[in-house]
Amino acid sequence: MTATAAMADADRDAVTRDEVLRVEGLRVELRVEKGVLAAVDDVSFALRRGETLGIVGESGCGKSMTALSIMGLLPRPIGRIAKGTVSLEGVGDLARLSDRAMKRVRGNHVSMIFQEPMTSLNPVFTIGFQISEAIRTHERLSREATRKRVIEMLEMVGIPLPEMRYANYPHQLSGGMRQRVMIAMALVCRPQIMLADEPTTALDVTIQAQILKLMNRLKAEIGTSIIFITHDLGVIAKMTQRVLVMYAGVVVEEAAVRDLFARPLHPYTAGLLKSIPRVDPAAGRQRRLHTIKGVVPNLLSLPTGCRFSDRCPDVHEPCRKWEPPLAPPDQTANGSRQVRCWLHRKPPAS
Ligand SMILES: Nc1ncnc2c1ncn2[C@@H]1O[C@H](COP(=O)(O)OP(=O)(O)OP(=O)(O)O)[C@@H](O)[C@H]1O
Ligand SMILES: [Mg+2]
Repeated sequence: MTATAAMADADRDAVTRDEVLRVEGLRVELRVEKGVLAAVDDVSFALRRGETLGIVGESGCGKSMTALSIMGLLPRPIGRIAKGTVSLEGVGDLARLSDRAMKRVRGNHVSMIFQEPMTSLNPVFTIGFQISEAIRTHERLSREATRKRVIEMLEMVGIPLPEMRYANYPHQLSGGMRQRVMIAMALVCRPQIMLADEPTTALDVTIQAQILKLMNRLKAEIGTSIIFITHDLGVIAKMTQRVLVMYAGVVVEEAAVRDLFARPLHPYTAGLLKSIPRVDPAAGRQRRLHTIKGVVPNLLSLPTGCRFSDRCPDVHEPCRKWEPPLAPPDQTANGSRQVRCWLHRKPPAS
């Protein structure tokens, strides 16, 4: 029995049958010049089979660090998983895997696409060669079979004349085409999970819409579950079924996307929702955008109590004393919903 198979046995109970991934109590620490900060602090969530889970929050909230810890790609040497488990179906706890074992998981079980494809594609190799590499790392296929699979994949992601494009270098493609190549590379080994970190932010709106549509089609065809990271709630609404809202390293709200938009519970979520640009039909023009006052706190000197208290329009006494737990709100019976806020829960007796 291989080490991975043995771990899979030991961890079989860690993910339930309809889940492909379960992250439990994840804490990611970064050693920076002024000390050690928790970029991700006690984050727990599950990714269900076939679902797209959104992670949303302002810059610096810990979205990318959460994704990179699932990929085993935290910045070195400063970053590490200090606590928690990342249980992947059929593999076990990724937080405990060696670098070598993690290399086998990347691309094969979990892959990631980034915001700027130019930084992830190597300019000196053809795109055909780079997608073939992704196959060669995990499977033994003949040269001919590999080439055939790459061309099929290029076709699948909507690249015209794939045989010709196979021999192109990244700079010969447009930004949208490069993002399609990245998606082809990520999905060519049919991973259980694809992590998409702001995959369309650098693209113009028309191309963005095409890429999002493509991701949804491939998700259905390949059966990959997706974690979709973005600061854009419009994209969240289009792409995801469930959402985690992150703030300063913690999850402040988790909800089905419909519930989140219908009734945000956390004042931070409400603030984010108010800042979505939309055309006001009555005025016939875009309304002035609401912005949340202030900035995300320095993770090395967090306020006492709730991390959002300094910016919260609804701040009251308990908020500056105790950090609220992430738990279902007192008033609803909806168990899938969670919020980290004293407005929705009785604070401890002082
Ligand atoms: N290489 C690094 N060195 C030091 N601190 C870092 C590094 N990378 C990230 N951080 C810090 O870790 C925290 C979380 O960063 P992360 O990149 O996960 O944020 P994010 O939510 O992805 O933001 P963005 O929307 O800007 O991508 C931030 O406070 C950030 O400053
Ligand atoms: Mg990021």
